[in-house]
Amino acid sequence: MGPVSDPDGKANDGGGAGDEALAVPEPRWGAEFPYRWDADDLASRRRLLEWAVYASGALFAGTLAIAALGRLRPPGSAAVRAVARASDVPEGGALYFGYPGPEDEAVLLHLPGGRFVAYSQRCTHLSCSVLFQPERDRLYCPCHEGVFNPLTGDPVAGPPRRRLPRILLRREADTIFAIGMTP
Ligand code: FES
Repeated sequence: MGPVSDPDGKANDGGGAGDEALAVPEPRWGAEFPYRWDADDLASRRRLLEWAVYASGALFAGTLAIAALGRLRPPGSAAVRAVARASDVPEGGALYFGYPGPEDEAVLLHLPGGRFVAYSQRCTHLSCSVLFQPERDRLYCPCHEGVFNPLTGDPVAGPPRRRLPRILLRREADTIFAIGMTP
């Protein structure tokens, strides 16, 4: 038996009246601005995939570059620079200098007992400059009254929670050199 024609003359393959009830009529704007959404989806997905591949490649290349740089410069290393003559910094005194760059504030301390230590002057709270107060045996940050132990750089009062970055020193005869930093 062949297809049945309805009164409007359209072919009916036997699916019943329910099929017509489910059919969504095309909106008027669809006729005026025809757009192939299925083709658009395909292009967008392909584009997205291309971008994902490029981004992964760039990320991989960046990681390789950082790893290579890390191998060239071991952790904690920085330029070796003469900081001061030990005899110029009296015991209990301090000398402010720039390290690792000239703009990076640092402080060299000559502690009682003859030991030299050096730290970044940047407070680990919000980066104000810390000052040595030998009369109170402390490194002091005036911004929020942070206090650090001059022997270790550890925070002992106020808001700072991390110790001051330490500058590694080497002494040759009377000259003190800065040779690197630890976080
Ligand atoms: S910046 Fe040093 S205590 Fe806040």
